[in-house]
Amino acid sequence: MERTVEPELMDSKDQVISYAKADFSEGENKFINQINYYLIKNNINLNENELIVDLGCGPGNITEKLSIKWPRATVVGIDGSEEMIRLAEKNKKSSPNLSLLKNLSYICADIKSLKPCDISLEKKISLLVSNSLIHHITYIDEFFNCLDKLSSNQTINFHKDLKRPIDEKSALELRDKCAETNNDILTNDYYSSLKASYTLKELKNFLLEKKLSSLEVFEEDDQYLVIYGKV
Ligand SMILES: C[S@@+](CC[C@H](N)C(=O)[O-])C[C@H]1O[C@@H](n2cnc3c(N)ncnc32)[C@H](O)[C@@H]1O
Repeated sequence: MERTVEPELMDSKDQVISYAKADFSEGENKFINQINYYLIKNNINLNENELIVDLGCGPGNITEKLSIKWPRATVVGIDGSEEMIRLAEKNKKSSPNLSLLKNLSYICADIKSLKPCDISLEKKISLLVSNSLIHHITYIDEFFNCLDKLSSNQTINFHKDLKRPIDEKSALELRDKCAETNNDILTNDYYSSLKASYTLKELKNFLLEKKLSSLEVFEEDDQYLVIYGKV
């Protein structure tokens, strides 16, 4: 199936509410555990001097989990949608874990034009993550240009996204499964996202072509792709 692009930002109120209502916690916890495992294996400790950045943070589900896991690090969530950032701020304020979120803040900005100084003048990014963002970016070069601009040679990158189904029939099956537990807005967004995603082969070829082969990419549970390593 060919890739079909979808709009980058999720900025309609209905879309944001539908996304925020869904429960993605199982995948989110798995992602945090994966990152934690990598850091432990590589003897990396995220203390108060460290900066963690979550690109395309949406309502802050993963950003909050990062902050709770590493409460001494500074955590910044970035999203281009004002509506998403408003909700992320609201979620932070009403979180039962508010005391662990003291070092968490949000910025509303387009990742394509971000510069390191827009995030912090003092700290280099130790951990740069994103979840379900890559497929939103119309031209994939712009996503990797952003990683390149924000990363130092110490930055650990972790980016998870959907994998494009092999054909329309498989995409429709996944859409129908999503419809069993979610409303039409979220189901249609999910279907568009599946069609806008990449395949493992496309990402691998892209990393090779752009000489980014220090980044690894693997397939997870047949539905996701994870890119990790240093740029
Ligand atoms: C599917 S949501 C994922 C949200 C969050 N990462 C999560 O896992 O729950 C994708 C988010 O990326 C944001 N986004 C898409 N393109 C962007 C861009 N160019 N700059 C900043 N944010 C962007 C959207 O507004 C949306 O909030």
